[in-house]
Amino acid sequence: MFRGDARTLHSGEGNQFLTATVGETSVLVLDDEPHARQRRVLLPPLKGERMRAFFHAMQSVTLETVRTWPPGKPLRVLEPFQDITLKVMLQVVLGLTSPAELALFAGKVQRVLALGRGRYGLILVKLLPLALLQRTRWLPFYQRMHELDELLLACIEQFRRQPRGERRESILADLLAASHEDGQPLMNSEIRDALVTLIFAGHDTTSIALSWALEQIAPRPDVVGRITDELRQATGGEPPSADQLNQLPYLDAAIRESLRLRTIMPFVVRMTKAPFVAGGREYPPGVVLCPCIHLLHRREDLYPEPEKFLPERFLERRFAAHEWIPFGGGNRMCLGMAFALYEMKTVLSALFAAVRLARPAGRRSVPVRRGLALAPHDGVQMVADRRPDRS
Ligand code: HEM
Repeated sequence: MFRGDARTLHSGEGNQFLTATVGETSVLVLDDEPHARQRRVLLPPLKGERMRAFFHAMQSVTLETVRTWPPGKPLRVLEPFQDITLKVMLQVVLGLTSPAELALFAGKVQRVLALGRGRYGLILVKLLPLALLQRTRWLPFYQRMHELDELLLACIEQFRRQPRGERRESILADLLAASHEDGQPLMNSEIRDALVTLIFAGHDTTSIALSWALEQIAPRPDVVGRITDELRQATGGEPPSADQLNQLPYLDAAIRESLRLRTIMPFVVRMTKAPFVAGGREYPPGVVLCPCIHLLHRREDLYPEPEKFLPERFLERRFAAHEWIPFGGGNRMCLGMAFALYEMKTVLSALFAAVRLARPAGRRSVPVRRGLALAPHDGVQMVADRRPDRS
């Protein structure tokens, strides 16, 4: 399916209910050439090589947050992770650094998300036509989105007025400097849609993935031991520098194994626009195909003892693009894959260097729906203690 012709397999069509949030020019809701056009402008700022520019924001926000954790007391990690990933996303996307500005934008995003997270929120947005949503400003969803839009548009306008060299380094600055293949610069509404798409697609997913990763790693002394040994060898136990991040292959493997075993997005969706053959079966136009990420990641022929958390799998073997698919694939492959993997590694390496984590006995997290993702029902409870060798 991921190798299939993009004109035969649509995805944006099935995401129309997201239009009220991400806008009509978001990659998420488009197909064919309009989709490829928006994707081309978003690819360069999110390329793997760009990640180093985001390292400092990711690590410093993590260390600041961890300093506020009460030693020895149980806490849910999902919310602090959400706070970290949202602040990072706002710094990276808009170049915000002042605590007051960050708090203002973060508050507006959270107000919208609070509605979208429950089942009710998604149904509301799905059932009400966009035109109605826009006319009925009293609807809390539209009101909150409108407040966020005003802030974002003011930010875009402010950047536009500044000379290029004076703009804060950010994805917004990249988008203002970019143009489409025909030489057309991006309009404010396109930039707004791209920013909202990145903020919304990028931070909640990664915070859930981080919570699941701790849920898997923390109760396993052998895995924690290997992660901390690796850190000690690479950095003497300090939070790593951007260069040292490459010297942590076991942590990388543990992150990939966690993304295999704990599903964030349960499936990906494509709608056939022409007859399409998959697995020896022909599907007529109009069929919705949903390859299940959860089931693929439990295939015994690919992952022996699939229910076991074994990071070594990812050191012993390189899995093909259709065998490990937490980020989907093909022409709709998650645009933030490099970003999410880099952020998870940066956050977790800082965390394991700063604190010792334990899971209160008898805890088990089960997946529940949170917006489009599957999150741990209890936010994953942990007890964090300062490392004895650190102040
Ligand atoms: C662990 C974290 C994340 C997971 C598990 C995840 C997962 C996914 C999945 C399954 C898809 C659909 C792919 C398909 O249909 O084949 C997707 C699409 C997308 N993701 Fe992510 N994602 C994550 C983080 C991010 C981040 C950090 C960003 C932005 C910086 C992001 C931006 C996007 C965008 C823009 C799309 C739409 C791509 C398109 O339709 O062309 N995601 N993601």
